[in-house]
Amino acid sequence: MQDITQEIQRLKKERNAIILAHNYQLPEVQDIADFRGDSLELSRIASETDADIVVFCGVHFMAETASILCADKTVLIPDSKAGCPMANMINVKDLIELKNRHPKAIIVGYVNTSAEVKAELDVCCTSTNAVALVSKLKEEEIIFVPDKYLADYVSKKTGRRLISWDGYCPTHVKILPEDIIKKIRQHPKARVLIHPECTPEVIALADEVLSTGKMCKYAAESEGKEFIIGTEVGIIHRLKQDNPQKEFYPASELAVCPNMKKINLEKILWSLQDLKEEVKVSQEVRKRAMRSIERMLSV
Ligand code: 13P
Ligand code: SF4
Repeated sequence: MQDITQEIQRLKKERNAIILAHNYQLPEVQDIADFRGDSLELSRIASETDADIVVFCGVHFMAETASILCADKTVLIPDSKAGCPMANMINVKDLIELKNRHPKAIIVGYVNTSAEVKAELDVCCTSTNAVALVSKLKEEEIIFVPDKYLADYVSKKTGRRLISWDGYCPTHVKILPEDIIKKIRQHPKARVLIHPECTPEVIALADEVLSTGKMCKYAAESEGKEFIIGTEVGIIHRLKQDNPQKEFYPASELAVCPNMKKINLEKILWSLQDLKEEVKVSQEVRKRAMRSIERMLSV
């Protein structure tokens, strides 16, 4: 482990690379990263870095977003099969059909979408900024894809009716209301933090509904000492590391995203050695997708 870590660090310097890791990555991947964060934070870092190479440890749509934002850099994903099933629940054809049925609607899309789908959006959002973004929209009709549970949450928070898509996260739906109720019984003083990809029944039991980045911030700033965490279990590593004096209980041990766990230290090393797999987006798609991402980043 020591050798591989050292070799990654050496190659990283030699190639002027940075390693970005999503909050759900394996502990050893989080520990070797230069930055860890949520989708929005990692997009911002990618857009601002001076590095020549970005090694993106997350799922494919995240690396693709980084690639759209950094046309002059090489963006690598250590395992190109690390996809997001929710992002795969909508494609361009489906979206165009939906748009044709609502020609006056503004199209808002979660960042968990392919570059081709992003190219069809008016504005992109993440779980951090979805409520703020939708609340600012003036249009009568709003299409919100692909996560129906995030759409439901945003609709309740903003009072706006959203035309949603039947997409969802197969990992977050594993968290059940009874899991939360059981954990609250075991830890009555704990604050309940829930990701907005969870079902409405789970969200109804939350003290706070937060993106992964906001969960990290909330846990660090809160006076609370115990937290029940309703999201993918990988975040527990970071929460414990950042707050050693506090306790974190996963709402469900079953909430594991298998795609996030495809990346490991060996694959990061190979990625830096061979400069693979490069994530590229065609110039035409990039230009159109960029508009929706830039509109989001300006909010
Ligand atoms: P965050 O932006 O909150 O990190 O969420 C990304 C994601 O894929 C959650 O499943
Ligand atoms: Fe996609 Fe869900 Fe995994 Fe997030 S946790 S990357 S939404 S499958």
